[in-house]
Amino acid sequence: MMDSMPEPLDAALTEVRALLLDPALTRAVAAGRRRGQRPSVVRAELRPVTLKAGPRLQISTSDGARPYTRNVAPGAEAGAAVDELLAEPFGNWHVETADSTLQLRVTKSGEAQVHRAVASRPAPEQGGHDRAKDWLLDPGDPLFAEIGGSAAKRRQVDAFLRALAATLPDDLTGPLRVVDLGCGNAYLTFAAYRYLAQRGLDVELVGVDVREDQRRRNTELAGRLGWADRVRFVAGTIADAVVDPAPDLVLALHACDTATDEALARAVRWGARWVLAAPCCHHDLAAQLRARPAPAPYELLTRQGILRERFADVLTDALRAGLLRLHGYRAEVVEFVDSAHTPRNLLIRARRTGSAPTDGQRAEYRELIDQWGVTPRLETLLAAAGQTRA
Ligand SMILES: C[S@@+](CC[C@H](N)C(=O)[O-])C[C@H]1O[C@@H](n2cnc3c(N)ncnc32)[C@H](O)[C@@H]1O
Repeated sequence: MMDSMPEPLDAALTEVRALLLDPALTRAVAAGRRRGQRPSVVRAELRPVTLKAGPRLQISTSDGARPYTRNVAPGAEAGAAVDELLAEPFGNWHVETADSTLQLRVTKSGEAQVHRAVASRPAPEQGGHDRAKDWLLDPGDPLFAEIGGSAAKRRQVDAFLRALAATLPDDLTGPLRVVDLGCGNAYLTFAAYRYLAQRGLDVELVGVDVREDQRRRNTELAGRLGWADRVRFVAGTIADAVVDPAPDLVLALHACDTATDEALARAVRWGARWVLAAPCCHHDLAAQLRARPAPAPYELLTRQGILRERFADVLTDALRAGLLRLHGYRAEVVEFVDSAHTPRNLLIRARRTGSAPTDGQRAEYRELIDQWGVTPRLETLLAAAGQTRA
């Protein structure tokens, strides 16, 4: 972002107006208030939508109690609606287009402090083509100039969001509460918000990470993006962090080792409708397998260290999917991204069905763990939470 000297407010708002009416607009938010003044709504959000009737500018306002959304036609109708909003004494405007981000803050003396950022397109990946249609989120989206991240991370996150797109029903409407567990730098958190909001969903997202420094950094970033009221961060463990109300959708990308089990157990406890968890390293079962001989005739599977580790990976995720099934979820394990981008490229994708497990499913799970003499961490966590169905 480039800082600048305060500018005359009228000229800056004229620039905002042009961006709001520009076909390249992706999203804009007005919020806050000028000194001694109070807008008639606490917040306004604008975004382009495509309806059966054609392109429209969607304007959602909130009076603090309830939201109000209307869709206005491009041209005179949109111009008039935008002028009404620009006349409100909002303290901040945050406007994003495909090419730029503009952030305007009205100073105490009534001038405009404007930050402008040009979206920088990431360099194409080596040996690959970087066409917009290869991505779910445009890599030129100004969001990425803010959140940074390597090309590999961006590719992982985009692929993760594609899996999310394939999981959520097309006709999903209504508020969607989302949590990203073990969010780290929050690349996925912010990208998920962008994707879900672009779908026109009323999204609230919470990122959880044990690191307080990440919470501070991510919270500040959410403010810079103008999303502070929609994307929040909590410092705490996946098992215990306060997330209220319970989320509908749980995301976890590479939460370390058994943190993935914590994420799955928490999702079950919340009764989340959808869970997408891409596991990271799997040390827990590998250590258990090392500690005892394999049952006959599987000794050859675990004698070599590397094979034992890989087998532990497979066994861990198979048991996770099996446990989710025993707790009313339809779970599948898929490759969400090419292994060239990350060796940790499996995704456990689950949808709550509420179905009670059959005796056969219970027996299948129990025989497998008894035979190997292992206790998956997820089973322990679910039992501790009183969710024993295995
Ligand atoms: C490998 S990073 C992945 C970060 C992010 N999801 C991504 O894909 O870029 C794992 C993150 O999980 C956090 N973490 C690990 N165990 C945790 C736990 N039990 N509770 C909360 N956060 C945890 C770590 O602090 C770290 O930021």
